[in-house]
Amino acid sequence: MTTATPAAQEKPSFEEVVKQRRSVRGFLPKPVPKEILHKVFTLAQLAPSNCNIQPWTVSVASVDSCKQLRDKFVDAVRNGVRPNPDHARVDKFEGVYRKRQVDTAVALYGNMNIARDDNDGRRRASLRNFEFFDAPHAAFISMPKIFNESVAVDVGMYAQNLMLAMTAYGIGSCAQASVSRYPDIIREHFGLDESLGVLMGISFGYEDPSVPANKTIVPRADIEDEVKFLD
Ligand SMILES: Cc1cc2nc3c(=O)[nH]c(=O)nc-3n(C[C@H](O)[C@H](O)[C@H](O)COP(=O)(O)O)c2cc1C
Repeated sequence: MTTATPAAQEKPSFEEVVKQRRSVRGFLPKPVPKEILHKVFTLAQLAPSNCNIQPWTVSVASVDSCKQLRDKFVDAVRNGVRPNPDHARVDKFEGVYRKRQVDTAVALYGNMNIARDDNDGRRRASLRNFEFFDAPHAAFISMPKIFNESVAVDVGMYAQNLMLAMTAYGIGSCAQASVSRYPDIIREHFGLDESLGVLMGISFGYEDPSVPANKTIVPRADIEDEVKFLD
């Protein structure tokens, strides 16, 4: 009996794609076929950008390359290598942002059965980022270091295009700022020019539905709180 590949299945509508996408933090070892990789990265490339400059440079590690990179990251974290991000990060969220951050952590760690005071459990959960949640693929998105946040907006658009394209093809993904803490490892692995700064990673592949973290669904604020309509 032959099983239909995600590519052969009927595509979900745009609304379904947007609703289906969520962060996947546990993957099956099965790699995504090369022709589907080509399709989703071609779709992502259609993202809009300031003056159409398309500032993203994308590096994808698959299967063996992905395992080698994962080992480099895990070694760095275990050996206490100092993070050296190319772009400044917000250290501490406050007010409503802090509340949303905490609510999200409570939902995720709750599903992973990690208590608030379980520091070892939290460390293990954090390390999962650097293991790419066992994904067979990890993409890293860079832009020239000389660009600031006005151009980083373009990269965000690219990233969302990519993750939605993946969802449409049945591929799970997780955006990861965490991995951008060690940009030198990424530059060395892919032979990237020193002038490129790494903004984020995206682990991706087929979701492992048995992983408890993948049960996590986090809510959004009502549009009344964030969107103002004037006539
Ligand atoms: C730029 C960016 C960076 C993120 N970094 C991480 C990360 O390092 N580790 C992680 O587990 N999730 C990360 N996330 C996923 C967010 O936690 C997630 O998108 C948010 O909680 C909303 O959940 P959802 O994606 O399931 O809708 C990141 C998301 C974005 C957009």
